Amino acid sequence: MSNDPFAQLKAIQREGWSLFAPLEAVTTATAAELAKHARIRAGQVVLDVGCGTGVVALTAARAGAKVHALDLSPVLIQHGRQHAALAGVEIEFREGDVEALPFESSTFDVVVSQFGHMFAPRPDVTIAEMLRVLKPGGTIAFSTWPPEHYVGQMFALVGKFIPPPPGAAPPPQWGDPNIIRQRLGDAVADIVFDRSVMLFPALSPQHYRKGIEETLGPVVKLVATLKDDPAKLAAFRAELDGFVARYFENNVVRQHYLMTRGTKK
Ligand SMILES: C[S@@+](CC[C@H](N)C(=O)[O-])C[C@H]1O[C@@H](n2cnc3c(N)ncnc32)[C@H](O)[C@@H]1O
Repeated sequence: MSNDPFAQLKAIQREGWSLFAPLEAVTTATAAELAKHARIRAGQVVLDVGCGTGVVALTAARAGAKVHALDLSPVLIQHGRQHAALAGVEIEFREGDVEALPFESSTFDVVVSQFGHMFAPRPDVTIAEMLRVLKPGGTIAFSTWPPEHYVGQMFALVGKFIPPPPGAAPPPQWGDPNIIRQRLGDAVADIVFDRSVMLFPALSPQHYRKGIEETLGPVVKLVATLKDDPAKLAAFRAELDGFVARYFENNVVRQHYLMTRGTKK
């Protein structure tokens, strides 16, 4: 394996996220919200980064856009190709890293990411790449988890148990409008935020925890890392259950998220 800590992190992420496919059941409805927020229209050339199984890409393609979709995980890309075939739409899927996008500059009318680009370790590199491939006047739009709500707290908890490499930004920073404005800087105008809630069905907080331990990359990795340290694993689970209990009601975990849209100058 490479000595580069970011390359090592991405190799771990590529494997961890490969189990994500069942969670598309909860990201499907929010994909339609992001497509609306991004104002995706027929004929536009759209890129979905951190596309997972392609829920946003597919929504955009069904709206008539010409869509490219990119993800670290070849397993998820394969699911995406199957979805596109089933829905009868064309999407150019490819494996890749949002920090090094394999596209010419000024290619896309819209660049979107649903809970995807926020997991790349270097926000400055990530945003520079997303804006590089966007045409002037094009739209950048993404959904992210705010640090003050459940998913942001959960990722902060995971980071406490397995700290990321030095220099890697915590993903929930991408859910803070002030930080987003700084990161988009002078390159982006007309920044608009909106908020919504993803409803994650579960029979109990314990069912929910078991589900994410089997599907959500960073949590899968954490549980595997702590398998020989039952006391630490129990401490993680107890703290997680405490967060979940606050957001669990009527058989859903309420996961608040932020949507951002801006125009490249
Ligand atoms: C929470 S999932 C979201 C997937 C999909 N957008 C959805 O909403 O269902 C995060 C995705 O980001 C991808 N990802 C993480 N880091 C990435 C990177 N550096 N480059 C490209 N994709 C990345 C993961 O492989 C994973 O598919």
